[in-house]
Amino acid sequence: MTKPLNIGTIGYGFMGKAHSNAYAHVNYFFDLQYRPILKAVCARSADKAKAFAAKWGYEAVETDWHKLVERKDIDLIDICTPNNTHAEIAIAAAKAGKMILCEKPLAMNGAEGLRMVEAVEKAKVPNMVWYNYRRVPAVTLTKQLIDEGRLGRIFHYRAKFLQDWTINPELPQGGTALWRLDAAAAGSGVTGDLLAHCIDTALWLNGSIDCVNAMTETFVKERKHNLTGKVEKVGIDDAAIFMGRFHNGSLASFESTRYARGHKALYTFEINGEHASIFWDLHDLHRLQYFDHRDQGIVRGWRSIHVSDGDHPYMGNWWVPGLQIGYEHSFVHQVADFLKGLETGKPAMPDFRDAYRTQLVLDAILQSAREKKWVTVARG
Ligand SMILES: NC(=O)c1ccc[n+]([C@@H]2O[C@H](COP(=O)([O-])OP(=O)(O)OC[C@H]3O[C@@H](n4cnc5c(N)ncnc54)[C@H](O)[C@@H]3O)[C@@H](O)[C@H]2O)c1
Repeated sequence: MTKPLNIGTIGYGFMGKAHSNAYAHVNYFFDLQYRPILKAVCARSADKAKAFAAKWGYEAVETDWHKLVERKDIDLIDICTPNNTHAEIAIAAAKAGKMILCEKPLAMNGAEGLRMVEAVEKAKVPNMVWYNYRRVPAVTLTKQLIDEGRLGRIFHYRAKFLQDWTINPELPQGGTALWRLDAAAAGSGVTGDLLAHCIDTALWLNGSIDCVNAMTETFVKERKHNLTGKVEKVGIDDAAIFMGRFHNGSLASFESTRYARGHKALYTFEINGEHASIFWDLHDLHRLQYFDHRDQGIVRGWRSIHVSDGDHPYMGNWWVPGLQIGYEHSFVHQVADFLKGLETGKPAMPDFRDAYRTQLVLDAILQSAREKKWVTVARG
């Protein structure tokens, strides 16, 4: 017998879909005590929320998130709304004793993130942030290989997240579809949107970052604002590059931009260790490139591991070896781990505190770029 876990989802956009899909499918592929029930979805437009609820199988609709948070029949609030709404919703949900899953970045900045951490820790409610790339099997395998010591001492961690969708200067900022270009809704540009993913993965794989030296650029300085109709200054960073030093002594080199013509979502990382190197690429997410210097010289070279075998992370729950899975499965894995954490009492990561540490790196990057100097990352 499975125990129902009533989900209240706020926002029905990109992430509202990705999460709803994960709740709907997780119990078909993972043996778990808990079963998510799509209880209610919240969005400001009743018609759109109703249409979404009908399509995805939600039982009810709310148009005000406060009402959703107050409902007695909701166990878990899932925050799938723009960044400037995360803190207020999460703090109210914690006070109401709800479990909380929050989209990334956790907050608009570190100070706001800390208030969210304090709220969930005070209320002792299970919480997690959707840094889903940790659960791409090839990325999880990277963690396994590092933890087994296969790379030895790590010298370099290099990550990029490249897109090209904001190059057109006529693209407006703000409003429903373009809140990412509006600093008031997003907090920052590519730093909080794209680098946040790279940093979460990096802290998980390679430990904390001590200091950073960053440069950001806003290539298009003014855009029409969808909410005011006026041409306004653009407050987000279009591109961000930083170098830094990890606590383990390895060197960090990171880049993210929405101005890399030809790249849509090219998230890559490469880690160079004393014995071995690893390279991963989101456009080819089921493959892990691995080079091991300890191989016999005549056959030494980069291996392309197709991460689809039954003993690869998560893959035993899916199809037969050789058949790959995709982007949406990383969310299914994250829900599965969260539910398993409820079952075992060993919470799935990243929780709010873990995501707050990423937020502190984001703050340090933005401060370094503003002040044109090295910045020490605060400890979380
Ligand atoms: N984990 C990931 O890889 C990933 C990918 C994309 C987005 N995100 C994050 O997810 C969040 C949402 O992004 P998205 O791409 O799904 O955005 P989106 O624009 O597709 O959807 C946002 C939704 O929030 C709703 N909304 C906005 N304000 C609201 C309010 N006050 N009350 C109720 N609903 C409200 C909108 O109507 C819409 O349904 C952001 O924090 C973003 O950074 C994470």
